[in-house]
Amino acid sequence: MHKIPDDVIAAVLSRTNIVEVVSKYVHLTKQGKYLKGLCPFHSEKTPSFTVTPEKQIFYCYGCGKGGEAFKFIMEIEGISFPEAVKLLAEDSGIPVTWERAEYIQDEHAEERRQLLSAHELAAKWFHYILMNTEQGKHALEYLRSRGFSDKLIEAFQIGYAPQMWDALTQFFEKRAYPLPLMENGGLLTYQDERDQYYDRFRDRIIFPLHDDRGQIVAFAGRSLQPDVQPKYLNTPETLLFHKSRLLYHLHQAKSEIRKSNQVVLFEGYVDVIKAWDAGVLNGVASMGTSLTEEHVKLIRRHASRVVICYDGDDAGVNAAYKSLTLLEKAGLVVNVAILPDRMDPDEYITRYGGDKFRLEMIQGAISAVRFKLDYLKRGYKLSTEDGRLGYIRATMRIISALPSPVEREYYLKDLANEYQVSIDSLKQEMFHVIEKTQKKKQDGDNIGKPWNNGMNDRREEATRPALRPAYYNAERNLLAAMLQDASITQFVQERLGDAFNIDAHAALAAFIYRYYTEHDALELSTFLVMLQDEELERLTTAISMLEVAKVMNERALEDHIIQIKKAPMLLAIEHKKEQMHRAERSGDVQRAVQIASEIITLEKKLKETQQ
Ligand code: GTP
Ligand code: MN
Repeated sequence: MHKIPDDVIAAVLSRTNIVEVVSKYVHLTKQGKYLKGLCPFHSEKTPSFTVTPEKQIFYCYGCGKGGEAFKFIMEIEGISFPEAVKLLAEDSGIPVTWERAEYIQDEHAEERRQLLSAHELAAKWFHYILMNTEQGKHALEYLRSRGFSDKLIEAFQIGYAPQMWDALTQFFEKRAYPLPLMENGGLLTYQDERDQYYDRFRDRIIFPLHDDRGQIVAFAGRSLQPDVQPKYLNTPETLLFHKSRLLYHLHQAKSEIRKSNQVVLFEGYVDVIKAWDAGVLNGVASMGTSLTEEHVKLIRRHASRVVICYDGDDAGVNAAYKSLTLLEKAGLVVNVAILPDRMDPDEYITRYGGDKFRLEMIQGAISAVRFKLDYLKRGYKLSTEDGRLGYIRATMRIISALPSPVEREYYLKDLANEYQVSIDSLKQEMFHVIEKTQKKKQDGDNIGKPWNNGMNDRREEATRPALRPAYYNAERNLLAAMLQDASITQFVQERLGDAFNIDAHAALAAFIYRYYTEHDALELSTFLVMLQDEELERLTTAISMLEVAKVMNERALEDHIIQIKKAPMLLAIEHKKEQMHRAERSGDVQRAVQIASEIITLEKKLKETQQ
């Protein structure tokens, strides 16, 4: 893939002031060297989001998001790198000349363009047939009978694919759209024996599916006959459409989602549409398929709270539990709307009206904990003493995981009341569970996977900074100094090279070494752009925020380097000692002696390193 020319990126960066860029989205107030505000990427009450004008970066101490101006725009607008460059280029009056020729240079660009145009056109055609033709009449009547007003049909660009074999095929043929490509894009099907193309969607209500930028990339066709399978025929996976990455209606819900910092997650298209009609403007659906990690990522880009509003039947509740787990793992705050009598949202709204739906179901959605506690009940026979006891024990795992004592107390009291047990005995039980899980966590703190340790557990970092090994901080301090100084970098490169213990640190060091071969000084924002790796950008931003002395003297550098070099040896020694004890216990004296001498060698080497 071609890139935007480096000098263009540099020009845009040099004319962009990150403070101005961020200020359009976040209210910032000056505080010493940086500006502070409420983080737009996670929900918080006290500001931990910072912008440092001197470095031209943003960084949130709460959620760990950070980077240069492009990164900020990408995250907040949910757009790609080239799009962010384009946006800021336009803001700073730099002509965008590279658009067509330079950056959309993926080999499928032309096919993509044609397919997008075909989808756009087809959607208009389906819509026209629904609204204006005799063929579409029964479909329109069906939609009306289900409470779809014209306004709703218009807003969601709903259409109808007629009961014919090749109406759309001919339509494309006349307009010289290549039929094989249309087949590839999921609009037509092809029959070998007859060497002929046919319409994929026939006699179906058509829901266009937009990507998050609002381009139509696929269709879902709902059968009008109750006995025709499948009920929904969707576009298969194509160049444009990946169902695990698309959330229905996100493109239109986006602004409301950002404003409310909340997404309402539905199962079906019809639910999204009816809820929208009822004033729930931040609804999206994962289209029947189960929620994927990619969906969650997409959601997290735009909001930090989610209300799950699935069907009230068993399948819906089970799916809600699964989605809840996935969403919470990503750090999102989740509530669950519990629909009564196995209804789905569409039925509920039709029966009780939009106001009641909004107030009682969406605003009245229960907390994730409450949902989990109720869900847990399904596995226990609460009519028996044993069942009740088992249930209470199991709830402790949920309650003990809550971060605030007030919240824990609240649910414990509830349990105590409901099951006639003393709150003290419940507390005892809970502390027991807490103790056990903490022990497990420590045992699992495994130095063998340094990349994961360093990169993915920001939350842990906040709560247990003391458990970081010495080399971890030494590596980060060195990297922070390297980001500021070319001669320090040279010194570290000679003395340490790639011998960082944490993979991500070694990777970052390699990038810094390389950067200085081409530049005299390191400009942080340019460096970040060059990385092109989200995790590394995050890490770099976090490290650049460390307060390290601007000039580290050689002695201090040496100390850091020794710490780092020592780490693997210390680990090896520890490991050997363990082996030795095991050999001793099993009576293998010879082996124990052998290992002891290996330990001595290692310890000698360690001493040499320290000199
Ligand atoms: P109505 O039945 O018209 O109310 O539509 P709905 O959107 O409420 O459908 P339903 O609750 O049955 O299913 C929820 C979602 O699951 C749908 O919106 C589809 O995305 C998906 N779905 C349901 N049936 C099928 C099917 O047969 N095939 C595929 N691919 N998806 C389906
Ligand atoms: Mn339905």
